Amino acid sequence: MNLSKITLRPFKLTDVDDLMIYAGDDQVTRHLRRKTLTSKDEALTFLKHVCNPHYHHWHRSICIDDRSIGYISALPGSGESMFKAEMSAGAAAEYWGQGVVTKAMKIAVDQLFKDFPHLVRLEGFVDVKNTACQRVMDKVGFRKEGLLRSHYFLKGRLGDYFIYSILATDFLPVSKL
Ligand SMILES: CC(C)(COP(=O)(O)OP(=O)(O)OC[C@H]1O[C@@H](n2cnc3c(N)ncnc32)[C@H](O)[C@@H]1OP(=O)(O)O)[C@@H](O)C(=O)NCCC(=O)NCCS
Repeated sequence: MNLSKITLRPFKLTDVDDLMIYAGDDQVTRHLRRKTLTSKDEALTFLKHVCNPHYHHWHRSICIDDRSIGYISALPGSGESMFKAEMSAGAAAEYWGQGVVTKAMKIAVDQLFKDFPHLVRLEGFVDVKNTACQRVMDKVGFRKEGLLRSHYFLKGRLGDYFIYSILATDFLPVSKL
């Protein structure tokens, strides 16, 4: 995998077929809060939502040659929590284990700290069973802060989650890597 081909961009309605490949795959959504998409209509509804300029959730498509192969998102806090945002990411199963999400996450963290100067902290909650995601967080430079026991009820199971964070002061911009 030539990781220099990985780019991030806002979603487009024309991503619908590519989106179905990963957001319609139970293997990908197993650890995600979102339900698996089951039809193209559902995928279009989702895209209309995230393409709306007033949508306050930062959502980007991970692309190779401008084709969407995954997503990365940051949910900003509001009020007294506006200095932090919670990140999530996923990619189509055929691209797993090739460094794709690690690269995308590094680009995203860099972009978020540049575009939103009020952001001090990015955080991620990772199921203890999701070893690949834990590895991504480590490789990007997130710090594992602790274990949250019985933290979240997801898809029929109450799970333990690691909490990870990266502060603006921890992060080396992509240009310096
Ligand atoms: C988790 C996920 C995002 C990782 O993406 P990816 O592009 O495969 O990540 P990378 O290739 O950059 O790194 C994955 C690392 O995990 C390791 N890994 C993969 N599966 C593993 C497993 N079952 N046990 C231990 N390590 C594992 C890989 O070897 C790699 O580490 P390495 O570089 O030291 O070899 C991807 O598997 C995915 O989309 N999963 C579904 C969605 C999801 O769970 N998202 C996480 C919620 S934030």
